[in-house]
Amino acid sequence: MSMATSVGTTDKAFDYISKMILDASAIVLDANKAYLVESRLAPILRAHDFSTLADLVEELKKVSARALRQEVIEAMTTNETSFFRDIHPFEALKKQVLPDILKKRSSERTLRIWSNACSSGQEPYTIAMILRENFPELAGWKVKLIGSDLDTKILGKARSGIFNQTEVNRGLPMQLLLKYFERDGLHWRIKEEIRSMVEFKQVNLVEPFPVSMGKLDIIFLRNVLIYFSVEMKQEILSKARRMLHNDGYLFLGGGESVLNLAVDFEREQIGKANCYRPV
Ligand SMILES: C[S@@+](CC[C@H](N)C(=O)[O-])C[C@H]1O[C@@H](n2cnc3c(N)ncnc32)[C@H](O)[C@@H]1O
Repeated sequence: MSMATSVGTTDKAFDYISKMILDASAIVLDANKAYLVESRLAPILRAHDFSTLADLVEELKKVSARALRQEVIEAMTTNETSFFRDIHPFEALKKQVLPDILKKRSSERTLRIWSNACSSGQEPYTIAMILRENFPELAGWKVKLIGSDLDTKILGKARSGIFNQTEVNRGLPMQLLLKYFERDGLHWRIKEEIRSMVEFKQVNLVEPFPVSMGKLDIIFLRNVLIYFSVEMKQEILSKARRMLHNDGYLFLGGGESVLNLAVDFEREQIGKANCYRPV
């Protein structure tokens, strides 16, 4: 009897937390993700001395629990990323996308790139290194490279530009490590010339996109749509479409596409990369 009550309470706590995460971040947590919720929230229970998920939920319900709610949301995000992740989009960027955009913007001399859901910053820093390595003519241009994420803690790490040995071992060519990073104890710190190229800001994909960014030439929106419902994917892609110039480019993650989604993008293959263009 008491066990049934405790299971019921845990179910209710899970329902409350999954609804809170859905509303705040659009991340869908089905009932089969209960184990994930429990394991990700265990450190928060310990840190705040809650004995059960239900105790945590009681606290989350309080208006004053804003910081705790953010902590719970951030615990549920998956921050997996790496330098030059999946390589092909970056090959396409270097060989075709940037040369094309630079030609088209040669009179205004402006370039705007947005790396959305950028986690700890490897993606925008990869883009910054590609720009610095291959397009010296951009020195006289107004270049805006924005890295954004919902998770303020991971954005703090991105801003610091400090990576551990395992992180720099994943995807970053040795020659770029030696050229653009310096040792910082057991870590590596990205040099200021690259760090200062990226402007980091908090953007929640669920909310209206900041119009202050202006229209973008290239949007990276990779490995985040997988967590959302079909309706939310469509809504986010429509917002991305409105932010993108008509001749711009969108990159999604390797397992993501616009297939079966009612959106104004069509797929274009560039080398081995899938790229999406406004229709
Ligand atoms: C798996 S990482 C992808 C990182 C990078 N784009 C890549 O492909 O390597 C997913 C990121 O999406 C972020 N995220 C999840 N929900 C979000 C939302 N509603 N708005 C903005 N970012 C979100 C998470 O915080 C996390 O850093």
